[in-house]
Amino acid sequence: MVWSTADVPDQRGRTALVTGASGGLGLETARVLARRGARVILACRDVERGIAAAARVGGMAEVVRLDLGSLASVRQAAERVRGRVDRLDLLVNNAGVMFPAYRHTRDGFEPHFGVNHLGHFALTGLLLPLLRDVPGARVVTVSSLAHRLAARAPRAGDAHADGGHRSVAAYSRSKLANLMFARELHRRLADSGAAAVSVAAHPGLSRTGLWHAGAPVWLRPVSAGALRRLAQDPAEAALPALRAATDPLVPGGGHLGPAGLSECRGGAVPARSSRASRDELARIRLWELSQDLTGVRYARRGAERFAAGTAR
Ligand SMILES: NC(=O)c1ccc[n+]([C@@H]2O[C@H](COP(=O)([O-])OP(=O)(O)OC[C@H]3O[C@@H](n4cnc5c(N)ncnc54)[C@H](OP(=O)(O)O)[C@@H]3O)[C@@H](O)[C@H]2O)c1
Repeated sequence: MVWSTADVPDQRGRTALVTGASGGLGLETARVLARRGARVILACRDVERGIAAAARVGGMAEVVRLDLGSLASVRQAAERVRGRVDRLDLLVNNAGVMFPAYRHTRDGFEPHFGVNHLGHFALTGLLLPLLRDVPGARVVTVSSLAHRLAARAPRAGDAHADGGHRSVAAYSRSKLANLMFARELHRRLADSGAAAVSVAAHPGLSRTGLWHAGAPVWLRPVSAGALRRLAQDPAEAALPALRAATDPLVPGGGHLGPAGLSECRGGAVPARSSRASRDELARIRLWELSQDLTGVRYARRGAERFAAGTAR
């Protein structure tokens, strides 16, 4: 049976935060969750776009400013969310950049690694106390088919790399980092006896704002052709993240993607994960690197209650 938005269970009484909800797949995800009754917080870099998106989402949608390329902004956003709600049921780490025009984030990181991975690593750690002990709570992190193009996880040397903003390898590594993070988070949550689980999802291919940025010249005809033939509507591409977020039958540690055309489009089913994403040692190394770079510390596995503190 094909899973669709009609299968999203009643979300009344639940609160969800969706990053990058000003457009594309995040807006679609937020819209469906709100339609099913969730209170949805749209975490957006541009507040005006966020307010316009909230009007389209309807229901109990509200906006919080979040620039994942600035750790100061991530901390402020987490603080504001903690001031507004005393629990979160869903955190959807959806926002992402591909080939942005800027060379570094505000903190000096290569933008794919900084926004797609480090920003979400920090945000999740800072919001985790709101989720950890909530029955049915989930963290969903949006990865990409492109994670399979990355042979290895990001290393310390990649964090500040110059020129990565135009690099397919840098985007792919950041999406591999998303998947590794989702898995490692799940392992740590499970080890510490937390109620919350972590799941990864990828949307296949969808014609969204992501593709408007400046791809390397050699890639443009390839991506234009692939989008023409294979891309699906954002409404369909959001299904894997929506299912990961709301289907109780999807286990923690899982990874969902589209069912058809080599996972490019159609449905929401268990997805393939690259060998690199299953390398447990590499996942731990990435976790430690991410803690060092962001200053957001998650407690040691099993040693104390799973919590995030701030080292700086
Ligand atoms: N579309 C695809 O074919 C495809 C394929 C594989 C994976 N994905 C993944 O799907 C996710 C959603 O992408 P999309 O296709 O919906 O792209 P999109 O339409 O470009 O949306 C990306 C969202 O991320 C936000 N964002 C960008 N930089 C940010 C920052 N520094 N801080 C906070 N938010 C920021 C954008 O906000 P602004 O409006 O302010 O720019 C926008 O709301 C991404 O993680 C992407 O990697 C997409």
